[in-house]
Amino acid sequence: MNQPKRYLITSALTYANGPLHIGHLAGANLTADIFARTMRNLGKEVLYVGGSDEHGAAITIKALKEGLTPRQIIDKYHAQFEEAFRRIGISFDIYHRTSEPIHHQTSQDFFRTLYRKGEFIEKETEQFYDPKAKMFLADRYIKGTCPKCGYEAAYGDQCEKCGSDLSPTELINPVSTLTGEKPVLRKTKHWYFPLNKHEVWLRQWINEGILDGKKVHDPRTWKNHVIGQCNSWLNEGLQARAMTRDLDWGVDVPPEIPGAEGKKLYVWMDAPIGYISASKQWAIDHGKSWERFWKDEGTALIHFIGKDNIVFHAIIFPALLKAEGSFILPANVPANQFLNLEGDKISTSRNWAIWLNDYLESMPGKEDVLRFYLTRIMPEQRDSEFTWKGYQEANETELVNNLGNFINRVLVLVNKYYGGEVPDFDPNVQLTSSAGEDQISFQDAELLLVFDKLQEMVNAIRRFEFRAALRTLMEISSMGNQFLQFNAPWQAYKTQPELAAAVLNTGIQIVTALSVAMEPFMPFSSAKLREMLRLPAVAGRGELQDILDALAEGRLLLEPGHQIGPARHLFERIPDEVIEAQRAKLVKTAPAQAAEYPPLKPQIQYDDFARLDVRTGTIVKAEKMKKADKLLVLEVDLGFERRTIVSGIAQQFKPEEIIGRRVLVLVNLAPRKLRGVESNGMILMAEDGEGRLHFVSADTDDGWPVS
Ligand code: MF3
Ligand code: ZN
Repeated sequence: MNQPKRYLITSALTYANGPLHIGHLAGANLTADIFARTMRNLGKEVLYVGGSDEHGAAITIKALKEGLTPRQIIDKYHAQFEEAFRRIGISFDIYHRTSEPIHHQTSQDFFRTLYRKGEFIEKETEQFYDPKAKMFLADRYIKGTCPKCGYEAAYGDQCEKCGSDLSPTELINPVSTLTGEKPVLRKTKHWYFPLNKHEVWLRQWINEGILDGKKVHDPRTWKNHVIGQCNSWLNEGLQARAMTRDLDWGVDVPPEIPGAEGKKLYVWMDAPIGYISASKQWAIDHGKSWERFWKDEGTALIHFIGKDNIVFHAIIFPALLKAEGSFILPANVPANQFLNLEGDKISTSRNWAIWLNDYLESMPGKEDVLRFYLTRIMPEQRDSEFTWKGYQEANETELVNNLGNFINRVLVLVNKYYGGEVPDFDPNVQLTSSAGEDQISFQDAELLLVFDKLQEMVNAIRRFEFRAALRTLMEISSMGNQFLQFNAPWQAYKTQPELAAAVLNTGIQIVTALSVAMEPFMPFSSAKLREMLRLPAVAGRGELQDILDALAEGRLLLEPGHQIGPARHLFERIPDEVIEAQRAKLVKTAPAQAAEYPPLKPQIQYDDFARLDVRTGTIVKAEKMKKADKLLVLEVDLGFERRTIVSGIAQQFKPEEIIGRRVLVLVNLAPRKLRGVESNGMILMAEDGEGRLHFVSADTDDGWPVS
C-alpha cells in the first residue's frame, strides 16, 4: 500500500427537496471541504465532487405536497444549494446534479454492464399498487399502522414514531397517500443485486483492508462506528436488493433490456454513480481525465457522509463498483454522526434547524465563525450539539481572544515600530520560548515548535480528526500569544531593540504560517489575513507544503524588508442581542406530517354503523398505567354499570383533568387486555388536523338530558 498520489473526494449528494441547514454542513460537506483544501495545500492532486440528489420519492413527495412538478422542485433547490455552498466556502471542483443527461447515460451504462455480466437476478414479487392512481407505490407513498408500536401514520419503509424499519406489507391497514385508497398487491418484475454473494470479500475488505489478496487500505484509519455498523449489517446477513423501481421519475432502465418499460433505477443505485458522472463532466469542462481518478490505484477515494448513509457507501456501492469491475473502491468512508440543535434533533418538518441561507443573510461576514464552531463541535465519534451560546463563546474565547488577538498584536506592532516592514534581526538573540518562561531559545527553535504543531495538525486531518486538528491550530496561536507575553516586545522596543526585532520577526513568521494553516478551516479570514500580509491568497497549490519545507530547512516564511499592510481585526465579539435574535427564530412547529389530514378510510354501509353501541358515561376515576407513558386506566360510570377502560390519551390529558368529564363510549367492543388490565369498551375521540385528540362531547347546553 503506497501513499496515494491523488485524492478523489466526495460529499454525499444532497436531496434537492428542502433547504440546507447546519446538519448538512457538519455531516458531509464541511469535513470534505477541510480535507480537500488541506490536501491541495499539501500539493496533492485533488478532485472534489458534490451535487444534488434529484431522484427518488424524496423529490416526488415534495413536489406533490407543493403542487409543483419534480423538475420545478429540483431546479429551485439545486440553484439554492449551489449558491449557498459557494457562499459558505465549500470548494467543490464541480457541483453537479443527477438530472443531467450525462448522469442518466452514465448510470444506464453502469446498469447495462452489470446486466450483461449477469450480476443481477430477476425476481417477480408482489407490490402495492394504487388502482385509482394506476401506479405502483413507492414505500413512502404508503401509510398505515405500525405493527410494532401501533402508530397510525407509519410509512411503508419506516415508522417515525418508534424508528422501526418496515416493509409496506407489514403495515396494518395500508392506504395509498396519493388517493387514500387501499392499495392492492400486484405482481411486478425487478432486477435484484445479490449482495449476499459479495459478503465474504466485503468482510475482508472492510475489516482487513484486503481486496483480491492485496492490501488496499488500512482499516485502523476507518472510524470504529463505521466498521461497527458494517459488521452489524454483515452479521445479520446481506440480502438481495432490488435495484429498480416502478416509478415515473428517475433514470430509465436501459430500454433495450426486456421488461424495462416503466422501470427506473433505484435512487440509491443512481445517486452514488452521480459521483462518477460529476467527475466526467468536470473532465470535459477542464480537458482532463476522469478515469485517472476512478480507475487508477494511485487514487484514494474518500466518501464523506452522514451516518445514515454508511451501508450505501461502505457496502452497497463498493459491491456495485466491484461487480462492474473497472473501478477502484473507497479507501475510507469517514461518516459523521448527527448534529443536534439546542437540545433537540434537527428536523426540517418541525422547522428545528439553522438554515444556511438565513444564516448567510442574517450574519454577514460570519461565514468563518460558523465553519469554526461547526468544526469545533463536529460529531465525529458521537452525536454533538450546536447551541447559540456555545457559538458565541467559541467566537469570543478562541477567535477573538486567542487567534485574532495574536495576529492583531503582531501586525499592529510591526506597523507601529517598523512602518510595516518586516524587521531584520540578529539570529543570536535569545528569546523566551513559548514552551515556558525558563526556556531560552532562538528563533529557529521557536519555529521548530510551530513546525511540530503543523505536522500534528496535518496528521489529525489525515485521520479525519478535524476537531483535534483545529485544536492544534489554535495551540499555535496560544503559543504565539505566550511568546509575545514572555518577551514583551512593547517593552523591549525601547531598551533592547534587537530583542523586539527578533520577537516581531518571529511573530510574523508564525502569523504567516497561520495564514496558510487556517485556510482549510476559515478560508475567508485566511484571505483577509493574506491581504494584510500583502501575500497572494492561498489557492490550494501546495502552500502548506512549502511552509513545512521552509520550516524544516530553517528558511524564513517572510523575509526582512517585506512590506505588510495595515492591521484590521479578523474577528469581533458578537453581542448578546444578536445571539438572542438568532435564538428567538428557533420555534418548533408541529410535525408537518401531523398537520396533514389523514386520508379517509374506506366507505362503510349503514349496517356497519348500526352495529356500534354507543352510550354516554362519566369518567369517575383516572390514573396512569404504570410503565406506560401513553395509557390511562379509567373507570367510567355508564349508569347501568361501571367499566374499566384503558385509553391511550395520557400524553395529552392528565388524570385529574378528566375526572368528571362526560364522554361517549363504544360499549360493545370486545374486551382487550392492555398490559394486564382488561379494557371493556372505548372512549370516543376524534383527531384534528394537528393530530390532537378531542373528546367527542356528550354534554349539551340546551338542557336535554344526556344520560
Ligand atoms: N441524498 C442522500 C441523503 O441525503 C445522500 C446521497 S449520497 C449519494 O441522505 F452518494 F448516494 F449520492
Ligand atoms: Zn412504530
